[in-house]
Amino acid sequence: MSAHQLIITQRAELLTVLCGGGSAEPLECVLDLLLAWEVLVWEDYLNIRVAEKPLCSNIRQLLDVVHDKGEDACSLFLAAINQVLPEEQKAGLCFGKGCAVVGKNRPDTATLMLLVDRPVLVTKLRDNIDGALNVLLTTGCFTIQDCDGVQLPVYTPSQQVRRLLDQVKFKGETAAKTLLQYLEQTEPSKPKPEDKENHLSADCLLYQKKLRSSVAAQSLFLSTYGGAGRFSLDDIYTDGLLEVVDGSGETTTLGLEDMVGPIGTLNEDADTILLSGEAGSGKSTLLQRLHLLWAREALLTNTFLLFPFSCRKLNAEHRELSLKELLFLHCCWPDRSQDEVFQFILDHPHMVLFTFDGLDEFKHGFRDEERHCCPTKPVPIPVLLFNLLQGTLMKGILKVVTSRPQAVGPSLKRYLRKEVHLNGFSPSGINCFVKKHHSDPAMARRVIDSLQVNTVLLGLCHIPVFCWIVTKCHQELLGGQDGIPQTITDVYLLALQHFFQRKSSLSQGALGKAWLEEHLDTVLKLGQLALEGLEASCYVFSGNELQRNGLTEQDVSMGFLIYCNDLSVTDCKHYEFLHITLQCFFAALYVVLNCNNNCSAISRLFQPQHRQLSGLSQRCLGHCIDPSVEEAESHVAETPNLQITAQFVSGLLSQRHHSLLLDCCPTAVRERKFKQVAKSLSKGMQRHFKSIPRPVKGEKKSMHAMPSFVWLIKCIYEMQDKSIAQDAVAKLDVEHLKLTYCSIGPVECTALAYVLQHLRNPVGLQLDNNSVGDVGVEQLLPCLHICHSLYLRNNNISDEGIRKLLEKGVKCESFQKIALFNNKLTDACTQHFACLLKTKQNFLALRLGNNNITSQGAEQLAEGLSYNQSLQFLGLWGNKIGDRGAEALANALKNSTTLIWLSLVDNGVGSAGACALAKLISQSKTLDELWLNKNCISRDGVECLIEALKMNSSVREVWLRGNNLSPEEEVELSKQESRLIF
Ligand SMILES: Nc1ncnc2c1ncn2[C@@H]1O[C@H](COP(=O)(O)OP(=O)(O)OP(=O)(O)O)[C@@H](O)[C@H]1O
Ligand SMILES: [Mg+2]
Repeated sequence: MSAHQLIITQRAELLTVLCGGGSAEPLECVLDLLLAWEVLVWEDYLNIRVAEKPLCSNIRQLLDVVHDKGEDACSLFLAAINQVLPEEQKAGLCFGKGCAVVGKNRPDTATLMLLVDRPVLVTKLRDNIDGALNVLLTTGCFTIQDCDGVQLPVYTPSQQVRRLLDQVKFKGETAAKTLLQYLEQTEPSKPKPEDKENHLSADCLLYQKKLRSSVAAQSLFLSTYGGAGRFSLDDIYTDGLLEVVDGSGETTTLGLEDMVGPIGTLNEDADTILLSGEAGSGKSTLLQRLHLLWAREALLTNTFLLFPFSCRKLNAEHRELSLKELLFLHCCWPDRSQDEVFQFILDHPHMVLFTFDGLDEFKHGFRDEERHCCPTKPVPIPVLLFNLLQGTLMKGILKVVTSRPQAVGPSLKRYLRKEVHLNGFSPSGINCFVKKHHSDPAMARRVIDSLQVNTVLLGLCHIPVFCWIVTKCHQELLGGQDGIPQTITDVYLLALQHFFQRKSSLSQGALGKAWLEEHLDTVLKLGQLALEGLEASCYVFSGNELQRNGLTEQDVSMGFLIYCNDLSVTDCKHYEFLHITLQCFFAALYVVLNCNNNCSAISRLFQPQHRQLSGLSQRCLGHCIDPSVEEAESHVAETPNLQITAQFVSGLLSQRHHSLLLDCCPTAVRERKFKQVAKSLSKGMQRHFKSIPRPVKGEKKSMHAMPSFVWLIKCIYEMQDKSIAQDAVAKLDVEHLKLTYCSIGPVECTALAYVLQHLRNPVGLQLDNNSVGDVGVEQLLPCLHICHSLYLRNNNISDEGIRKLLEKGVKCESFQKIALFNNKLTDACTQHFACLLKTKQNFLALRLGNNNITSQGAEQLAEGLSYNQSLQFLGLWGNKIGDRGAEALANALKNSTTLIWLSLVDNGVGSAGACALAKLISQSKTLDELWLNKNCISRDGVECLIEALKMNSSVREVWLRGNNLSPEEEVELSKQESRLIF
């Protein structure tokens, strides 16, 4: 049905909803939108909004006017209603197909600007009417009568703003300009310090002081260092790699201070910033750093109040709370003037920041259903949290939320202002961390050196939590009796050994060979607690729960559990594992070592459809389980932890740890579990392969991996069993394997290479938009021989990574294509490409766009190209090769009998370069397309190209958009040669 008809048939219903409750607000809001979208002109508005007439006749008038304006106006009217009415009032109404409101250019007069921004201004000015009137009065735009007319007490604040805007429009352009200027000055993002101070009462300042000192106290020490104070955050904090992807897909590196800044903003209207990163990548620590710096007034100086929350701890809150109670009970209690402090928060959202750590640990999956906007009404915690995140409650307050990436679904993504990725430590970050950890420089050097010779371990250290363990366990590591750790299971076993060693050296000296068996009882008790906790999304345990699991003081004193003393909701002592990944590790130990369980725990871990709460965890962790959240959706969030647990289970069942587990678990049981895991992994892989669609005609058969593909590969890697890896990919028959945006870092590269090297036939491996880095590239080398193409766009790779890659690449017969768009390459890598091109006479495509290659690099490439007779595609888009570089390349490629496609877009190439390229055109028999957009070629250069094209019939297109030519020249030149494209 057309919008026109919808308005006619639903006239009575529309009248009812717009009249609903007798408030004029819905109608006014619709009118604001229709004015802004230019559906109504000012005269229409004045005719509709007649104060003397009853509301329903105003609405009828509006319906008539819109009806008369035709179909477009009708559909925009329906869109406005859809936007304005609350969900429950829209039930039963039909809004038609909907329509996009086309963003027009900003108008050029201030009066029109106010009209276009009217819907936003009504909200913005509501708290500022006095200030605006004051300015209008003092500048002579308004009289006292005007001001009084606006501020009549019968009007609501929104109506007062509309009266004010109407009056400004009536007064003309100067008044409009004055108001716009005033609005600019009071822009919330730039509060002036002196304004801020003026509005602050002594009690608010007192509260800020108390909050700052409580936040500082909480964030001074890192919990993984046992709070013993040996390492304050200041001493150990090392910057991680923080990145944001903007709307056009460009990645930008951020500093801590940019977390809440404008860089990378995708949705201006949303207030929630997501910090995402894999387990142990340092999200909580980064947030802690942010809190500490705020508390010291060293960062976020525009933020007056910062309220830190931990989702893990919110899980334990079962009361219904209002926002006010949440802030004051969970963060900091105001000793005086509670209401005033709270009012300040409500009135100054732009000066307040909320942080929520570990959304993935919150046992309720994000829901976008129940709306709640009243800051003083108590509601269940999930309702409060979700409404804060999506902005129904406390719009305008920025919230920073951390989560593992898998736990953020599309329903929450809609409400994100931006998403910042934390990719762990860079190689230099690792060194820096080790140096901070070891005050003895000689020891730091030894640890660093041992990492350099074991790149698998170096890859692992790129995740801070692994780096922490490796550094902490340096003695066991450098002692090296059990071989160098290769898997995360190895690393965590090292940690386990370290903690037991520490304890026993206090009493009886060194640990014996059978150390695990000696401590089996403690391990099993902790393991049971850990597993039940994970299955119920429970990460904080009371003393009673510990007792119920038989854990004694002595078990606790081993150091795997720590007090969590800031759980202000309850009085009794609470404990958590040093890190959640350690909880996963203990859970895995329990799954593997407990002889009483049947194999259902393994099924639950490896087959998602079996993931349900076990009877056991329901019994023991009753308090953690909220009966309202036992639906499937609530378990989405914990899947990453169960996946990590499954990885550890795979690792513990590996042959490598056979002798360690020998006396802890009967061999028959262990073997049964091993077979079950191997079978689950094989089945999981088969399921993936079945999902591969049939190849589209003319395209390669390709597989786009699902996120759990990488997890399966990581489990296989943990098993360190060549035959399992071989079997896993034996039946994989694809030409192209796509793993873009899969959070692939060095650790994942190690696992991928371990498995993919067994592929039967060469594939194209597409790893674009991950964080492979140089260390990851090195990890990929074992599977390079089976890659015919390698796509590594946007992966933080530098020249050093390329050196290692190509050293191996030249020797790999199948390796024929590489794409490295948007990395950190400079002229230092081009000699390696030159060598590759010289040596490999079957290499087909080299794409190096958006790097930092200059004329020197191009000259080096040219050196290699002049010896090559295979390359078909050469892409250097977005470098800086200039005329000299273009000349060198053209010269080298003149005799190529294979080159089909060449791109030198955006490279500072001028006419001299173009003339050199003209020679290439005149000689080439194969060139099909030449891309020269966004350069500085002028008429002379193009004329050279035209001359050359006269001698060449193979070239189809020469792209020249964005060069130094006038539109007239472009028309004239394209008439001379139709293959030139401007
Ligand atoms: N920037 C850092 N500087 C120094 N150490 C760090 C840093 N980031 C993390 N660590 C170390 O790694 C450990 C794990 O980090 P953290 O708990 O912040 O990871 P996370 O990303 O929050 O993990 P999860 O996803 O499990 O919540 C920390 O306890 C600390 O020991
Ligand atoms: Mg965390």
